[in-house]
Amino acid sequence: MRLLHPLLGILMLDKEALTALQQAAEVLIHDSAPGMVMGDMPTFLKKVERGDMHIDATAGSIVKISVHNFVSYARFHQRVCKLLEQLKILDKVTSLSLVNFRLMSGKMPDKKNLNRPYATTKTHLDVWSGEPADIAHVWVALFGDVTNTTMELFEPPDAIFQEKWFKTLDQYDQGEKLPKMKQIKLKHQIGQVILFDGACPHKTSLLNGQPRVSFDVKLCRKKMAATQSFASAYVTTDQFEEIFNNGKIG
Ligand SMILES: [Fe+2]
Repeated sequence: MRLLHPLLGILMLDKEALTALQQAAEVLIHDSAPGMVMGDMPTFLKKVERGDMHIDATAGSIVKISVHNFVSYARFHQRVCKLLEQLKILDKVTSLSLVNFRLMSGKMPDKKNLNRPYATTKTHLDVWSGEPADIAHVWVALFGDVTNTTMELFEPPDAIFQEKWFKTLDQYDQGEKLPKMKQIKLKHQIGQVILFDGACPHKTSLLNGQPRVSFDVKLCRKKMAATQSFASAYVTTDQFEEIFNNGKIG
């Protein structure tokens, strides 16, 4: 893993690991989108872009789990857990959230969606919407336009450990009134694991591009020193580097 910031690290999945996740994701999409033909994701994404294909999802583009896709969602979830286990991430957490599987349109949503109190297109910490303060995020794009339909990350202001930074807010807009934050430069790629601390502000970024498929999961960290971020603690793990360098992730 390479640290881009004390609060953020990245690594590329090897081909085997990425393919396993993509295959599980494709089955999940198939079971979520009536009429989707397996084995041709580019065509599927084009149809989504044209509005010819629809997946039932939340306002934040999280694919809804129903009687039709529950089994494939569970299998995808299992695949994600396996990956986290192999990356030795599970050793460092007490719990993890359900995996959010997203099919994000590249287009800006309508005003009603954008005005939601906790719209992910606003710069935010998940803590502001009531998530625990001591979390870290894993975010991975699997298909589609990851250049234009993406996520921006920011350095928190210096005073991140002040209590007010981790306060629950009525809406994310209140957080944006805090000091201006510097964007962390990041080149998004399919199969890139982004691990970032819960103190790291982020937002969905939509530049009128094509759809993107990604997943993200929140981790509750085991107790660490107050000044230590999950990413910086993780990057020093020898076992992990060994696995990564040997290309045995998968
Ligand atoms: Fe978030």
